[in-house]
Amino acid sequence: MRITTDADITHLITRAADAIEDLVRDTPDAVLGIATGSTPEPLYAEITARASRGLDLSRLRITCLDEYVGLDARHPQSYRHYIVQHVLEPWGIDPEATVLPTGDSDDPDAAAADFERRILGLGGVDLQILGVGPNGHIAFNEPGSSFSSRTRVVGLTPSTREANSRFFADKAEVPSRAISQGIGTILESRHALMLAFGEGKAPAVRAMLEGPATEDVPASALQKHADVDVYLDDAAASLLADR
Ligand code: F6R
Repeated sequence: MRITTDADITHLITRAADAIEDLVRDTPDAVLGIATGSTPEPLYAEITARASRGLDLSRLRITCLDEYVGLDARHPQSYRHYIVQHVLEPWGIDPEATVLPTGDSDDPDAAAADFERRILGLGGVDLQILGVGPNGHIAFNEPGSSFSSRTRVVGLTPSTREANSRFFADKAEVPSRAISQGIGTILESRHALMLAFGEGKAPAVRAMLEGPATEDVPASALQKHADVDVYLDDAAASLLADR
């Protein structure tokens, strides 16, 4: 794991955007795995700015980590909607060139299995963007998830539903289930880029990087990933012993 800390998030976003730009210039039809949530939004905005200055992203293939079960695809909080808004439209990518889970399927288990099959069909993920939940989750793999888990329907913990309720008008609207890439699936990405900003993430960051690799802290599985860059602002890194 390579860990970079900086007081200024802009510097970290530049480094992360450089990794995406290098990949696209080297392999225009690479597979990029998108994380949703607020942390990577400035990264996607930076890539949008580079696209407006001529970076051609049109051949990139896009996948994602997870999707709520039961939200209509057009719901403003569906992850499909997020990806259309922050990635596909501003980067000029054809929605047909994406592999996203169908969260509003009548059969979510079949939709999860289909999502995993289609990720494998892409030949795997070249670069996976990741964020970490305050409880240590990655994607929607909550504490206790097996490190060998594959893409499946998962239940969301009360703390995750609480954390994500900030995006919904009413807490009761936050779905209780999601389709999530498994930890085993995520560990197969060829390169991963983990972003964590803010003191609210500091305990999860310490457990992810300096605690034992344990299923109690899903993100600690990244200690077993072959190629991970971690970008932390000073607040998120504030509880690390080794800074
Ligand atoms: C989203 C995802 C989640 C988030 C995590 C942090 O696709 O997989 O694991 O990365 O919940 O979310 P934010 O960035 O909103 O703090």
